[in-house]
Amino acid sequence: MVRPIIQMGNPLLRAPAQPIEAGDDTSINELITDLFDTAAATKGVGIAAPQIGVSLQVIVIASGPNARYPDAPVCDPFAVINPVIQWMSGETEKDWEGCLSIPEIRGLVTRSKRIKVLGRISPAKEPVILEYEGFAARIFQHEMDHLQGKLFIDRVESTLDLVTEQEYAIIRAAKDSSS
Ligand code: NI
Repeated sequence: MVRPIIQMGNPLLRAPAQPIEAGDDTSINELITDLFDTAAATKGVGIAAPQIGVSLQVIVIASGPNARYPDAPVCDPFAVINPVIQWMSGETEKDWEGCLSIPEIRGLVTRSKRIKVLGRISPAKEPVILEYEGFAARIFQHEMDHLQGKLFIDRVESTLDLVTEQEYAIIRAAKDSSS
């Protein structure tokens, strides 16, 4: 079921999410289905449970090119339960991000290029180490921030790195024509 997405200003987006206890599978599967449906309906490349008002440690990665992210790499949507960052590269890169909970704004955010995450990929029972780089590593870091009550606007180096969607479209068009 597609769920409404709460937006910046709602205190639930600023609260740390709770870990999922073993054995809760039926309600968690329903939550994950709702996150898949909501990400697809809103063209999100990722979504975290707090964004639909559920303060639990579940994120969904649903990367694929769409109107909001034309260059996103394709992967089958998957959910990660209780993800914990094990390692982040000191090497970083700065790139554009948006957020379904902050409509009409994009920001340039510095993130680690590569990360290792310990998490349980639903429906598996045991956590595994996941390694990501580039855009996928960025999505992970963004979604895991949601589990700590952090938003991408907290991570911009300067407010000059925040732009509206309209100006972002102009920046992108200029970049595409020069590359
Ligand atoms: Ni977000």
